[in-house]
Amino acid sequence: MNSSASAVAWCERLGSAAASAPASGIAEVMRHGFGRNGIIPLWVGEGDEPTPAFICETAAESMARGETFYMPQPGIQQLRDGLAAYHDRLYGGLFGEPFPADRFYVTGSGMQAIQIAIRLVADPGDEVIVPTPAWPNFPAAVGVAGAKACQVPLRFDPAGWRLDLDDIAAAIGPRTKALFINSPSNPTGWTATEADLAAIVELCRRRDLWIIADEVYSRFTYGSDRPTTPSLHDHIVPDDRVLFVNTFSKNWAMTGWRVGWIEAPEAIGPAIENLIQYATSGVAVFMQRAAARALSEGESALSSLIDRARIGRDIVSTALAAIPGVSFAPPGGFYLFFRVDGVSNSTEFAATLIKEADVGLAPGSAFGAGGEGFFRLCFARNPDDLSEACARFANWMSRRA
Ligand SMILES: Cc1ncc(COP(=O)(O)O)c(C=O)c1O
Repeated sequence: MNSSASAVAWCERLGSAAASAPASGIAEVMRHGFGRNGIIPLWVGEGDEPTPAFICETAAESMARGETFYMPQPGIQQLRDGLAAYHDRLYGGLFGEPFPADRFYVTGSGMQAIQIAIRLVADPGDEVIVPTPAWPNFPAAVGVAGAKACQVPLRFDPAGWRLDLDDIAAAIGPRTKALFINSPSNPTGWTATEADLAAIVELCRRRDLWIIADEVYSRFTYGSDRPTTPSLHDHIVPDDRVLFVNTFSKNWAMTGWRVGWIEAPEAIGPAIENLIQYATSGVAVFMQRAAARALSEGESALSSLIDRARIGRDIVSTALAAIPGVSFAPPGGFYLFFRVDGVSNSTEFAATLIKEADVGLAPGSAFGAGGEGFFRLCFARNPDDLSEACARFANWMSRRA
């Protein structure tokens, strides 16, 4: 047997969910950039600043103290208390009371929080509605759980992406268990208004659906005096079935740490603890100590990241707006998602751009229905790199025209 035939034979013996899990369309383009000197990679979903030193030191001190043993599944009390206090600061309490620490469960990343949330609400064969373009890991995780992601495209308009609730309502079927709401959205930047959120909650109450709420980028607000973008926290009552998934990755430059959390009604705590038990059995305690310190002392570090992203957003918005054939809605989170007129294969376009201009973009096709013809760039990065990448792209586009 040659090696590819043997790979096929091996894969035929895998479970169907594993065998059919899609490869990342972003990784496919990144392969063209591996080993290229001088490429400016804007395809990634992370900033380029390392984790603040005080957070790293807290982890090192904890390890040095010998905190290297198993810990309680839902997370150490210090971190659960810290999450409750952090949410109190942001939202001024929940249902007229301080947030209880028992609503918070520490997970090994936002990605794992998403996986657990899906497992909590969907059985194999069930459906979860995903407005698209969306971060591809979400629909893929639904598929890996044996459920089906029903993609409902947002409507693009340069004035702003729009979620049409009639489209969502039309996609609800007898097996639909949940609606995924990612606001601000990766990749589109769509940010739900208070009216959107009120209508979403009302629809899910009426149609008996869970909401999986991903507000991972909510602290990246621009030009607002509130500390977050509009949140479902301000729209729910105790009976609403909402699972919030979140992460330390973006706010405190901790992508490589893999620490996140789920916020859920306390009543389902035992089920969450079991799913954590059978996945990772908890997050390393020294990482949890560091995460707790990020919450309690990380506001100024977070403000600096937001300021840097704001500068980046202004650079890329101004530069791309001047390129003929490029259109985009106001960016959000730390992504700008733009369309290039006439592009029908964004993967091929992004691969050629790498080879000819040394700029790395994520192809819109990777983000599901409604994404083809678009490109995502992350602007939470060095302003000089952003200016240079935009200049290279503008120049390449003018040569192409
Ligand atoms: C919308 C969204 N949710 C969740 C995550 C998960 O973050 P992590 O797994 O790094 O904690 C990401 C990461 O890119 C994201 O973009």
